[in-house]
Amino acid sequence: MPRLSVRRATPADLPIVVRFRLALLRHHARRIPGVAARVHPRAADRARRHAARCLADPTERTWLAHLDATPVGVLRCTVSANSAVLRPVRYGYLAMVYVAPAARRHGVLRRLVRVAERWCARQGLDEVRLHVHPANPDGVAAWDALGFDVVEQVRARRLGERP
Ligand SMILES: CC(C)(COP(=O)(O)OP(=O)(O)OC[C@H]1O[C@@H](n2cnc3c(N)ncnc32)[C@H](O)[C@@H]1OP(=O)(O)O)[C@@H](O)C(=O)NCCC(=O)NCCS
Repeated sequence: MPRLSVRRATPADLPIVVRFRLALLRHHARRIPGVAARVHPRAADRARRHAARCLADPTERTWLAHLDATPVGVLRCTVSANSAVLRPVRYGYLAMVYVAPAARRHGVLRRLVRVAERWCARQGLDEVRLHVHPANPDGVAAWDALGFDVVEQVRARRLGERP
């Protein structure tokens, strides 16, 4: 039985973090209407630069999950400011959530989220949020199972298009 472990990603992990980030992008582009047309032509380069900045930023964390020595998942957590007039003042925000297909349904996400929530608690936070697209059934099912309730909708309108 392979051993599941989670550790903080460092700048040395940039290649695998970028690989997972781009796999997540491809996953969304294949399944979520409208995403493929919006993929930036220099997405790979931009993903690398962004991930490098994230891994070097002491105010946030990225974790990698491994099964034995094989990297199988990633999760990033930042601290976000809430509306100035609402509590909590700050909350943890989960992003870049990806588990390699062969490792799914073995508790990898569950473990990554537990580590992230512990880190958030140490930052004095008492709430964690994330975005998930409704056309991503795996994501919706996982967040439901992990106790994340729907609290708001994000709506957008392309300027110039008729309502
Ligand atoms: C969503 C995703 C991160 C889940 O990762 P995972 O490691 O397979 O999740 P876990 O094994 O920790 O699952 C935890 C619980 O969530 C639920 N769950 C997870 N995936 C599910 C699925 N496809 N269908 C139904 N329930 C699911 C289950 O209740 C599961 O517990 P169980 O297996 O004991 O029943 C993974 O499928 C993935 O990377 N998908 C592609 C990228 C993506 O959608 N990222 C999320 C963007 S918001």
